[in-house]
Amino acid sequence: MAEPRPRTVLVLGAGGFIGSHLVERLLADGGRRVVGVDLESRKVEPLLGRPGFDFRRFDVGDAGRLGAAIAECDAVVNLASLCNPSLYNTRALETIESNLLAAIPVVRACRDARKRLVHFSTCEVYGRTLAGFAPEGSAFREDPANWVLSEESSPMLLGPIAKERWCYAAAKGLLERVIRAEGRENGLRWTILRPFNFLGPRMDFLPGVDGEGLPRVLACFLEALLRRRPLPLVDGGRARRTFVAVEEAVDATVRVLDRSDAADGRVFNLGNPANEHTIADLAARIVRVWERETGAPFAPGVREVPAEEFYGEGYEDSDRRVPDVALARTLLGWEPRETLDSILARVVPWFRREYGGAAR
Ligand code: UGA
Repeated sequence: MAEPRPRTVLVLGAGGFIGSHLVERLLADGGRRVVGVDLESRKVEPLLGRPGFDFRRFDVGDAGRLGAAIAECDAVVNLASLCNPSLYNTRALETIESNLLAAIPVVRACRDARKRLVHFSTCEVYGRTLAGFAPEGSAFREDPANWVLSEESSPMLLGPIAKERWCYAAAKGLLERVIRAEGRENGLRWTILRPFNFLGPRMDFLPGVDGEGLPRVLACFLEALLRRRPLPLVDGGRARRTFVAVEEAVDATVRVLDRSDAADGRVFNLGNPANEHTIADLAARIVRVWERETGAPFAPGVREVPAEEFYGEGYEDSDRRVPDVALARTLLGWEPRETLDSILARVVPWFRREYGGAAR
């Protein structure tokens, strides 16, 4: 049954990349209250103090404060997650803790309080594609239909346990099953979202400035550009990804929040199948935008680096992931449109404004 639009939304992980964009959008729409929870607030700094935004600094493992926040809200969006591939193989236990064990109490608290849960999972639950295992040049491999990932029919193909990379996907995938089972057996109202490489301002961090370690590919490339080093292409940059603007993905999230009749009990892929590129192509495009913005050629170019050298032992890559977005299109009326070049043309100037001083 359709419910009224939620008036108070609790965003767990409000200080992260997606969380900061979701809070900004919910506040811009007006007419509702947003309670944001995170340990970090840098990305939402400009929003602190805005009417309707209540930011609370605590760990989602704090059951008392979590329960109190859930009690105040109509819907909960859970974005709290360790979601950086460089950590999956080096800090596997923390990855499983964050994406499964620490998330289960959130699911149970929503169940007990009878509040809707919109949970961010990941496209990584699909693992590798079936076609990727077929022989090169075979008809099965060449058929585009065998690359597309659908919420209700595609298998989930994770690598062996010695490849710790898959800890994250295994943890997220098991949590999806916990959520669904809580729905079927105990009446939890839920929606699961699977992001396919959202891009935009505020993604990740600049190592040594506002974070440590290895961020995801966009920030790795931007760091290399800023510091005038070759862009690292892991295994030659032949893996493929589809990229979608974070603002468009947030729009889908708001539609999910506002249309419980269409979204409850559903899993949605959120990505843009029209924006499929190899990582080498992403590098070439971002260099072009950088050169246009700076008005100077970028001489360092790219360098190829083996995955094991870049990420360490236990890494294995997703080969290709193209989302089927028919469900989001038909049930939510959502259609992603922005091209990769257009997204990069917005991200590069933002990054230079934000971090330009750090290079000097
Ligand atoms: C990650 C997360 O695991 C997903 O959960 C998340 O949904 C996804 O990002 C996302 O942004 O939506 P992944 O795409 O593998 O997945 O992460 P990236 O670090 O962005 O890597 C993309 C590709 O670029 C990989 O093939 C990686 O090997 C390559 N890469 C990364 C480079 O070639 N150079 C770099 O400097 C960094």
